[in-house]
Order: sequence, then structure tokens, then C-alpha cells
Amino acid sequence: MRQQYRIGTVAALSFGVSLIALSANAFETSTPPVPPQFPAEGKITYVARDTILEFKALPNYSQPQWVVDKFEKTGKLPPLKDRLPEEPLVEKSANMIDGPGVYGDTMRHVIGGRPEGWNYTAGQSQGWGGIDIALSECLTRTAPLFQVDAKDTEPLPNLAKSWEWSADGHKLTMHLVKGAKWSDGVPFTADDVMFYWEDAVLDPNVSPLGGGASPEAFGEGTTLAKVDDYTVEWTFKSAFPKQYLYTMSYPSFCPGPAHILKPKHPKYSGNTYDQFKNAFPPEFMNMPVMGGWVPVEYRADDIVVLRRNPYYWKVDEKGQQLPYLNELHYKLSTWADRDVQAVAGSGDISNLEQPENFVASLKRAADANAPARLAFGPRLIGYSLQMNFSGNGWGNPDEREQAVRELNRNADFRKAVTSALDRKAIGDSLVKGPFTAIYPGGLSSGTSFYDRASTVYYPFDLKAAKDGLAKAGLKDTDGDGIVNFPAGTAGGKNVEVVMLVNNSYTTDKSLAEGVVGQMAKLGIRVVINALDSNQRDAAHYAGRFDWMVRRNSTELSSVVQNTDQLAPVGPRTSWNHRAPEGKPIDLMPFEKEMVDLVNRFIGTQDNAERADLMKQYQKIYTENLYTIGLTEYPGALIINKRFSNVPPGTPIFMFNWAEDAIMRERLWVSADKQGKYELYPEQLPGKPGDKGTVK
Ligand code: GLA
Ligand code: CA
Repeated sequence: MRQQYRIGTVAALSFGVSLIALSANAFETSTPPVPPQFPAEGKITYVARDTILEFKALPNYSQPQWVVDKFEKTGKLPPLKDRLPEEPLVEKSANMIDGPGVYGDTMRHVIGGRPEGWNYTAGQSQGWGGIDIALSECLTRTAPLFQVDAKDTEPLPNLAKSWEWSADGHKLTMHLVKGAKWSDGVPFTADDVMFYWEDAVLDPNVSPLGGGASPEAFGEGTTLAKVDDYTVEWTFKSAFPKQYLYTMSYPSFCPGPAHILKPKHPKYSGNTYDQFKNAFPPEFMNMPVMGGWVPVEYRADDIVVLRRNPYYWKVDEKGQQLPYLNELHYKLSTWADRDVQAVAGSGDISNLEQPENFVASLKRAADANAPARLAFGPRLIGYSLQMNFSGNGWGNPDEREQAVRELNRNADFRKAVTSALDRKAIGDSLVKGPFTAIYPGGLSSGTSFYDRASTVYYPFDLKAAKDGLAKAGLKDTDGDGIVNFPAGTAGGKNVEVVMLVNNSYTTDKSLAEGVVGQMAKLGIRVVINALDSNQRDAAHYAGRFDWMVRRNSTELSSVVQNTDQLAPVGPRTSWNHRAPEGKPIDLMPFEKEMVDLVNRFIGTQDNAERADLMKQYQKIYTENLYTIGLTEYPGALIINKRFSNVPPGTPIFMFNWAEDAIMRERLWVSADKQGKYELYPEQLPGKPGDKGTVK
């Protein structure tokens, strides 16, 4: 890249601008500047993967005494031994910083999202902030892997307690935890897994929460079959595609309760897909879950309350059934309020991820008497400007939209847009200081796969950007400061771009304002389409956007999680380039190269080769601007000091969000510090669909 930089400069000096416009490299590139150091980065002590958990029967089991007295002794619940699997999942003391705990207390979350309902399988949001993560369990689990050296790891077992590969590597046999039950006491079996696979993943009309569970996410041509009630068998086209073990974790393989969902699915009922999706509205209480807590109360715009799941299938080494915490609260407020309440002590946990709140939160937490701890992790939160690359119909574009898609697919246009972004100003508009870094796009600088030398950066250069627009055929023909489409395209009107933005976050809105202002200087009018999270996601997945400002997801922060989402390897794996129903994806040549690199990455276990493939990937991504980076920065975990077992250095986002990485089922509060926050003390979830709890 250095070379190109010099050639470009020399040409400009000696031959003037006209030659520059002719040269293949009108845009000068470099590597991005070295990001600034920031204070208080949490340190992680690496552990061996097998010290975290195991499956085994223990000599005896215990639970809160009130469950025995009020539920077992009165015959309302079978004995604990009969509620637990033959071999429960045992969370080992060696990996608990404060050891096994005691029962009691509540974790008070605050969220900016709102539950659409409980049908995770059909893609309904529960409001985010870790609520769906508390309810759902997946075949494998990856969030806690942040503490395991990336070189020799694979996902942790979870609902799949063990697995074996066939000698040729094309078959993977998974053994499900035997005797585990849903929170209403119904056995969890291979039928739940098969319902999820056949009637959610493979059904094109159903898209589970998270948007990543399309068939190709598990490999083209992959099949899954039931062997018996506790065994399933995968068949893959490629040999040993161990990468898919990550796709089997959150959010893409967390089966729902087939005994509740199946009767409402269109294939087995007279329901439409919409009716299926909406069959379990927020008011539907006690939805059966495999997670540690069950929803027992919902008050609109106020709170969701979760109570302990008496059938939870995980224990500590003493045989104490998890979770230790009896209750979870989800106050329905705003994301900014989550930070405020967590530092003030009226909430218990926050992922400090909006830089606008950094300074105030740091000040508050610096006080020795502050109720909460605050620790920054690596620079893993990033935002990108994503352009809709579908030229053949995803989202049914009208004439103007189609014309914008063509521009999005034009490299000169993308280079013009990226060069018109003053990323220093964008970062400083969020927070001053060493937090934000210049982010050209692509892999996050916080991942182990990041290589700065392979990262192509188009520095801020408005002049070059304007030349680029001209090269893309755009001129301001009516002299109003906004470039026009060429005559014959979209009526030769001003270029107007509609940008999808998540209304629920201050940061998303600030970044969007920044983009609008800087694009105006370039001569492009950007109109913001701000929607709340749920509507935004719906518009996104339906392809109804020209551009969007989007917080990066896990594939860029971890590479190994949701790897298929790194490129359009299938019709629905990319975030900004999907296929319209029944048509192929119209890949551009550089995207084909990306797809090839990602498939090769998925196909190899060789660490050196993987590192090299990701360097090539990063170069193609950033050189061709698959997406356009806006900014990146570290996040901090804020958590109330009364909780024990919070793993030091937990990043708020790596394989998954901190709510999963800290393993809430094993957090506990010592008796002297327990708050009186439980709204339903000594009560348990009732029957599915009934109101509230059983006393
Ligand atoms: C939202 C929040 C994140 C995290 C996730 C968990 O996206 O912004 O901090 O809590 O929910 O799903
Ligand atoms: Ca104009």
C-alpha cells in the first residue's frame, strides 16, 4: 500500500490532476493510524477449556430450602433428583473466582428494547439486554471462551453434552443431555432439536432470533437427522467443518419447546406464519424454557420479571442446583438509562457501550464508595456504514432505490464515500479522549486475527472523494450542491440515499447525524430512516434500506463465531448482500474472493493458514469497501459490587455479549449483602399460559 501511496503523490505533483483521474489509483491509501492506548483495560487470566464444566452424576443434590418446603413436600414438584438429568452439567469450582455460592437475591437489568413476544424460534425479540440469553440454551456455548487461549479451543458442550466425528469427517454425532426437562417438566429430546432444524432453520418463512440461522450457516447441503431421543447426526459436504460447532451456539441453534410451538406452526395447524410468530405475545406467561429463569410477569413499558427455573439442568460441584439468583428483573427503559442506573446502584449491570456515557460513568465509578465496578475490555465495539449490494431485487427496490444499489456496487462511489468521512471528527463527536480509533472497516482491531498491515485505509480527503463521484458519473447538473443521477437514470434527480438507523441508541443516532453532515459536504443527500430495534431489524432483513448504520456483530469481533456472516456464502448469511426469494445472489468479483476465503477458513483447522486467510480477507474487504467503517472503541462492563464470581476482564462483546460471558447462573450474593429486591419471594413459575407464579 505504501508503494501506491507514493506513486499517487508523485503523479499528482508532476503531471497534475488530469492524469490522476486516468490512473487506476486515484485514491491514496495507507494503513490505518495506530489506535490510541486507553486506561484501565481489564486483564484476563487464561484457563484450560476443560476446567470450566463437565457432565457427571453427583452423590447428592440440593436446592433452596423453600423449594423443598413449599413445593416438593406439598407434592407440587417432583423430587429434585427426578427433575435433573442423569448426568447434569456441572460448573466447576476451579473456574469460579469466588467458588460455589449461596442462594438468593435478584439481578436488576435495565433495557432499551421491548419484548415482541416469546417466540424466539420465529424471530421475535424479547427486548435484548440478555433476556433472551437467560431464557435460551443452545447446543453449544461459546461466550465463556474469552478466557481460553484461542489457539486450541472449540465450543463448550451444552445441550449437546458430547460429540464424535466419523473417520472421514463428514458425520458428526451429537449426544444430547439425557433427562433434561423444559421448565414445565416436559422432557427435552431430539424432537425439539429436529423441530428447530426442520421447521425453523429449513423453513424459508421462519427466521429465528439473531438472523443468522439460515441453512447455509451450517454449510451448504448439510443435513441433520434424529438417531434416537438423545442422539442426532449431522452430515456435512466438507470434512471436519468444526467451525459449525460455533454456529450451534447462541444465537443460531437454541431450540424452542416443540411441544408448545409445533401445534401453532403452519405445517401442523391452520395458522399463517404471522399467526405462528405472534402466538406467544408478551402477556403469555411461563413460556417453557431451558434457561435458568422463566418469565412470570410482564407490565408494558415497565418491567419483565423472571423467576428461577426449578428444572434447570446445571449444578455446581457441591450438587447445588443453579442458578443461585432467584429472580431477574428487566426494567423497560432506555439503553442510556441502563448505564445511569448501573453506576448509581439502582440497576445491577450494564454494557457501557455508548461513548456518550463514558465520562460520566467513569467519574461515578471512580469513587471508592461507588456501588458498581467498571472495567474496560479490548476495543471490540465497532460501527459500519453498510450499503445494500443487491442489484437483483432484495427488498423490491423502486427506480430510485435501484439506482442507489447500482452506485453502491460501484467501487469509485464507495471510495468517494469512505474518503469523504472524517473519522477523527466522528469519533470525537461521541467522546473526546483515547477511546475511539480510526476504523476503516473489516475485522475489529481487538481480535486475534487482526493485522494492521493487511488493512487498507482511505484517509479523509474531500477533494479525492469529489473526483471519485465524478468518475462514478455523478455531477451536480442543477447547481444545488447535490450531485444528480446521470440523465436517464432515476429521472436525473438529486442523489438521495435513505439510511436505516436504530433509534434506540444515542450512539447510532450521533453517528448517523455525522454521516449525513459529511455526505452533504460531498454532495450526497442522506435521509435518516430511524426505527426502534424491532422495526429496524424487520426492515433490515426484508432488504428495505439503501444504506444503514450498524453496530458490528460477532463475526467481526471474534471471526470464529458466525464465520459464515463474514461474506455472502449463502443467500442469507451476509448482512448487506442477500438474495431475493428464488434468485441467486449477484456477487461482485471481490465478494466471490471473500466467499472463497471464508469457505477455506471454515474448511481448515490449521492455525497458521487461518491467520493468513484472514489477512487476505481483511485486505480484500477494506480495499474494496465491503462495508465502510465509522469508528471503533472499547466497552466496559459495569456490575454491582455485591455479585461474586464475576470473571475478571470479561469483555462486554466477543463471542457473545457479557450477559452470557459472565455466566449469570453461577453469580451469587453473600447473605450479608443480599438486597430485598425479589418481587415474588419463595414463588416459582406456573403453567405455560397461566398468569404469573405458583406460591
Ligand atoms: C443489546 C445491548 C447489548 C447487549 C445485547 C444482549 O444489543 O445493546 O449491550 O446487552 O442487547 O443481547
Ligand atoms: Ca443537484
